[in-house]
Amino acid sequence: MRILQTKRVTIDAQHPQTEWIKEAAQLIREGQLVALPTETVYGLGANAMDAHACQEIFKVKGRPQDNPLIVHISDLAMVKRLVEEWTPQAALCADKFWPGPLTLVLEKTAFVPDVVSGGLGTVAIRMPKHPVALELIKEAGVPIAAPSANLSGKPSPTQGIHVWKDLKGKIPLILDGGPCAVGVESTVLDLTGEVPTILRPGGITKEQLEEVLGEVAVDRPAPDQAPKAPGMKYRHYAPKGELTLLIGERKNVIRKIEDELRKGHSRLKKVGILCTLESAPELHSQLPDLLFVLGSEHHPEEVAGNLYQGLRLCDEQGMDMILAEGVSEKGLGFAIMNRLHKASGQRVMRV
Ligand code: TXA
Ligand code: MG
Repeated sequence: MRILQTKRVTIDAQHPQTEWIKEAAQLIREGQLVALPTETVYGLGANAMDAHACQEIFKVKGRPQDNPLIVHISDLAMVKRLVEEWTPQAALCADKFWPGPLTLVLEKTAFVPDVVSGGLGTVAIRMPKHPVALELIKEAGVPIAAPSANLSGKPSPTQGIHVWKDLKGKIPLILDGGPCAVGVESTVLDLTGEVPTILRPGGITKEQLEEVLGEVAVDRPAPDQAPKAPGMKYRHYAPKGELTLLIGERKNVIRKIEDELRKGHSRLKKVGILCTLESAPELHSQLPDLLFVLGSEHHPEEVAGNLYQGLRLCDEQGMDMILAEGVSEKGLGFAIMNRLHKASGQRVMRV
């Protein structure tokens, strides 16, 4: 891989400067990669119709080849070339949730390169809400394939600086539009079966989808089965430190975190804590090496917004052990807990 001089420019998230949009669109049209903000996380974008450019995404991220990419569009007219059939359910979802953090999986046309769909017969499509993403797709005039702009295995980037740390020297341009509003990735919804099925929980909740679609299932593969979203089989979102997820009544969780902290310190480990605002005062008094407040348990959108920054900070500050307080699985909490479970490699304590 060539080493590139990476340019990171600050772009206005609400009113993106035309100059930067034009430069980024030109790179996309030339088959190069550009990191861009979306409302969920930063994406690493390429022209979705250019197989060679999309192949570069896999190289740069170190991404397994069988993990398909999400294709981002700026208007519904772009859907035509991508899917065999724009189903009534798809139309309902688009009407209600696009632009926004919902990805729809549908039967693909032959126009979609195999590298984009990971060899599957389907394609994942989303219309993002972020003005920079929308303007860039519009100006480029092509749909943009974009996975999260992290190195494979690292937490997704929710700030431009995260992308810079992971990808500098590997791509020509990062559009830095500040922190992402949602903070966890989009919900991936499979519309190819009888019942719409959530393959990855995310920014649009199961409850919201049920209001529009009626019955909605969740893909919960048995341990010996492959998940339908190939990306879900990898231990994503993994910090370097050993993360334990603690679930239960608050006072039990606090007591258990204190126990584990003491044990860690007696073994000379650096111990970081990720917790809710409500538990922070008590846990702070136990002097962990790092205490990161995710947000209030009553505001899961705060917790989602801070989660990946918290995981990255634990790595940057060299935590050997990370103790994470679980939150309610209601609403956005479902996506938050999905990411925490993955980050823990299923090291979970129920107390
Ligand atoms: O919010 C998001 O979705 C962000 C922003 C940049 O849009 N993108 C993102 O992409 O999270 P990525 O590549 O990190 O995750 C895409 C997920 C993976 O789990 C992948 O396996 C799944 O979507 N996926 C993509 N195409 C699929 C398909 N045709 N069938 C099933 N799953 C698919
Ligand atoms: Mg990802």
